[in-house]
Amino acid sequence: MKLKITLLPGDGIGPEVMGQAARVLRTVADASGHDFIFDEQLVGGAAIRETGDPLPRATLDSCLAADAVLLGAVGSPEFDALAPSERPEAGLLTLRRALGGYANLRPIVCFDSVACHSPLRQELVAGADILFVRELLGGLYFGEPRGRADDGDSPSAYNTMRYTEAEVERVARVAFEAASGRRRKVTSVDKANVLETSQLWRETVTRVAGDYREVKLEHMYVDACAMHLMQAPRHFDVLLTENLFGDILSDEAAVIAGSLGLLASATVGGSVDLYEPVHGSAPGLAGLDCANPLGAILSAAMLLRHTAGLETEALVVEEAVRAVLEAGHRTPDLIGSGGAGLRAATTSTMGALVAESFAGIADSLHAYHAV
Ligand code: NAD
Ligand code: IPM
Ligand code: MN
Repeated sequence: MKLKITLLPGDGIGPEVMGQAARVLRTVADASGHDFIFDEQLVGGAAIRETGDPLPRATLDSCLAADAVLLGAVGSPEFDALAPSERPEAGLLTLRRALGGYANLRPIVCFDSVACHSPLRQELVAGADILFVRELLGGLYFGEPRGRADDGDSPSAYNTMRYTEAEVERVARVAFEAASGRRRKVTSVDKANVLETSQLWRETVTRVAGDYREVKLEHMYVDACAMHLMQAPRHFDVLLTENLFGDILSDEAAVIAGSLGLLASATVGGSVDLYEPVHGSAPGLAGLDCANPLGAILSAAMLLRHTAGLETEALVVEEAVRAVLEAGHRTPDLIGSGGAGLRAATTSTMGALVAESFAGIADSLHAYHAV
């Protein structure tokens, strides 16, 4: 198989975690005989510095011609004073819209060996396995009109929360389909006690649920959901949210997994699938070789599964990550208060260990099939 992958390292720790995800993908290609063709391009602050544009034409063209895009992170304090439309983040939002993926899948899994690091009690988080399906192309992020009005004494600013029924329906179907292959439960998050967009959201999700009788649907207000996530994470299977609610709740849910650095995502439904860790550019960690690359590596595993259809390879990457954590290797974000048998690892060591573990598991699988 030939797979064209555009790599967008971006800013801060983006290039460091991306380096390790690409290393793992190269190991997968070597072991499986598939041909992955990488094209690295500029995005975000790195692109503004070189070209003045957070999403240069060459980057967009490469992404549109690719089978999949893997992005590190964008954002840098250097550009914090710029208007939203000129910032590094605008490059990512324009890219998301151009690729067309409207369903952002964010799995939250608490690995057994990591459960002890969560600030939540271990017995609460152990075994938690949630899939966020976050709407990615609508809501406040893209609604018009938006802007600032500097009228006299009291300048004002405004954004528009807007959803069409069709936008809600298509992402709801992704959530119900995903739940059908899991524990058959969708929790739809809204603020229908206050917002019209949420009332439309709730009505539409309820109607779509009629086509998935085997899936149980519950509705939950976003404020209550923020609390229940911490109180009873195992209550949830698939969590369906609009754009901003999903952004906020998925960072909160990182506490269940043990670190934001562990979370991966896939954005599907458009012309080209986009893969990115959930975390940002973590400027304070940039250049120190200490960021956790596992979120980026697990995003690469999602690419193998969803775009390449390489389910076995995806499972083996996930298994390799599990094995490296079980052996006690930890980047600083996961060491926390410490623990017996833990071994401090850098970003690059962690990537090398996962690649090595992948190759080992793949070898034994080949040996098994050869018998
Ligand atoms: P952040 O996700 O960069 O960092 C939040 C916290 O998590 C920080 O304490 C950071 O040190 C830690 N962290 C994040 N990733 C980590 C990793 N891989 N390993 C270890 N620790 C990690 O969010 P922020 O600080 O609010 O934002 C920084 C910049 O990133 C901003 O410019 C923001 O807009 C941008 N951002 C980009 C994306 C993206 O590109 N997809 C996502 C979120 C934030
Ligand atoms: C994320 C990020 C982005 C978002 C920003 C950087 C535009 O926070 O992917 O979670 O809000 O979607
Ligand atoms: Mn976010």
